[in-house]
Order: sequence, then structure tokens, then C-alpha cells
Amino acid sequence: MSAQTLHKVAGGSPGLPRHIAVIMDGNGRWAKKRGLPRTAGHSAGADSFRKAARYCQKLGIEYLTVYAFSTENWKRPADEVAGIMSLLERYLRQALRDLEKEKVRICIFGDLAPFAPELQKLCRECMERSSVYTGAQVNICLNYGGRDEIVRAAKRWAADGCPELDEDVFGGYMWGGSIPDPDLLIRPGGEMRISNFLLWELAYAEMYFSDVLWPDFDEREFDKAIAAYQHRNRRYGDVGENE
Ligand code: FPP
Repeated sequence: MSAQTLHKVAGGSPGLPRHIAVIMDGNGRWAKKRGLPRTAGHSAGADSFRKAARYCQKLGIEYLTVYAFSTENWKRPADEVAGIMSLLERYLRQALRDLEKEKVRICIFGDLAPFAPELQKLCRECMERSSVYTGAQVNICLNYGGRDEIVRAAKRWAADGCPELDEDVFGGYMWGGSIPDPDLLIRPGGEMRISNFLLWELAYAEMYFSDVLWPDFDEREFDKAIAAYQHRNRRYGDVGENE
């Protein structure tokens, strides 16, 4: 579907989401169905993420935020964790090589301290060198937890001397700072829960759940999710235009 088609929506309906968040779920089951190790599923999931980032940029989605590794994912078998780390490293190295071609700002949300020094360095380099691009932004959540983010925000606010507080001020202490909240949360893989993802930021997001596994979540599936979003009536607690 073209950006133009997706922009054409009924009056009163939301247009194109500015910010899409994705829980990239189902990699393990995708691999199992094919008799492959779980890491092969994550590798297919990383490919799916690259394609999704390009497609969102093509459509004019300003922000894409993906859940790549949660604060709870450390409980997984060591070889699976190592596999995900090496995929991340490969992705970041490639992203650094392609920066000028892709022109995407890359941000990492999460505490990098437990990661290997080399991976931390790559994350910082990607964030610094891509910060000049303002057209599209990809946020990769690593060692990320929604509750952890809120607790850290509270600690940073306290360390700043407890300035006058409102929702905007407190939101500014989240990893994304002042970027707009996600309009649409997509969760492929058949589960219907938030799993400690962006608990503060998803307050008014529209939710889209799909049984399609993340490695199979292609452009057509994105089109379906965006089309579903465009048929929602976003009221933000109000009664809405047609009442
Ligand atoms: C959830 O699927 C997926 C993860 C915990 C890891 C996601 C990681 C990647 C897609 C690869 C690296 C990312 C980037 C940004 C390069 P699951 O394993 O829980 O799937 P299952 O529910 O089928 O077992």
C-alpha cells in the first residue's frame, strides 16, 4: 500500500500514526515450526525488523520503537541470550556502515551497563553518529522494562532536585524524552498482553494484536495494522465527535 492510500481516511479517523511501537514476538515458535534452533528465529526476527524500519520510513512514520530485549529476557538460556547479543552487534555494525544511506536516527532505550563493553560502545556510537538525522527515528529497547523505566525516571527527577511536576515534566524523564507517545502498539505472535513494555507511554495507544509470528510480519501485515488503526475512534477519554 502506498503512503498516499494510507493517508486517505474517513473524516474524523486518525491519519497515519506518527509513532508505532512493536513487541517482536513469535521468533521462537517460527523457528520451532521449521525444526530450527530458536536463534534462527531471532535472526529471521532481526531481518523482519530491518524491513519494518525501512517500510515505516517509506510510509512516513516518524518513530518506530521495538522491544528487542527485556529486563526479564536475561532468564533465557545463555546460548539464546548470546545469540540475540550477536544479532544486535551485527545490526549495529551494519547500521553504522549504512548511516549515510539510510538517514535514520537510532536511539537505544534501556540500561546498557550489563552489556559487553564492545556492544555498549557500538550502541553509543550509533546514537551519537545518527543523532544528526531528524526525518525518521528507530528506538531499540534493550535491557528495557516499563516499570524499571518509571522507577529510573523518578530517581532522576529526585536527583534533579524535585522540580515542579506534571505529566509532561515526568514524561521527559523517560528514555525517549519528549518524543510523542506511540499511537499504535502492534503485538504479533498471538499473545494479548503488554509484557512490561512502555507502560507510561502507551496510555492512549491503540492496540493491534495479530496471530502472525514476527518473522512473517511483512509489509502487508503492517498495512493491515495501520488500516485497523485508521478505523479506530480515538477519544482520549472524551465522548468523541459523533456522540
Ligand atoms: C520474542 O520472541 C523476541 C525476543 C525476546 C527477541 C527479539 C530479538 C530480535 C528480533 C533480534 C535482535 C533485534 C534487533 C533489533 C537486531 P520469542 O523468542 O519470545 O518467541 P516465542 O514466543 O515464539 O518463543
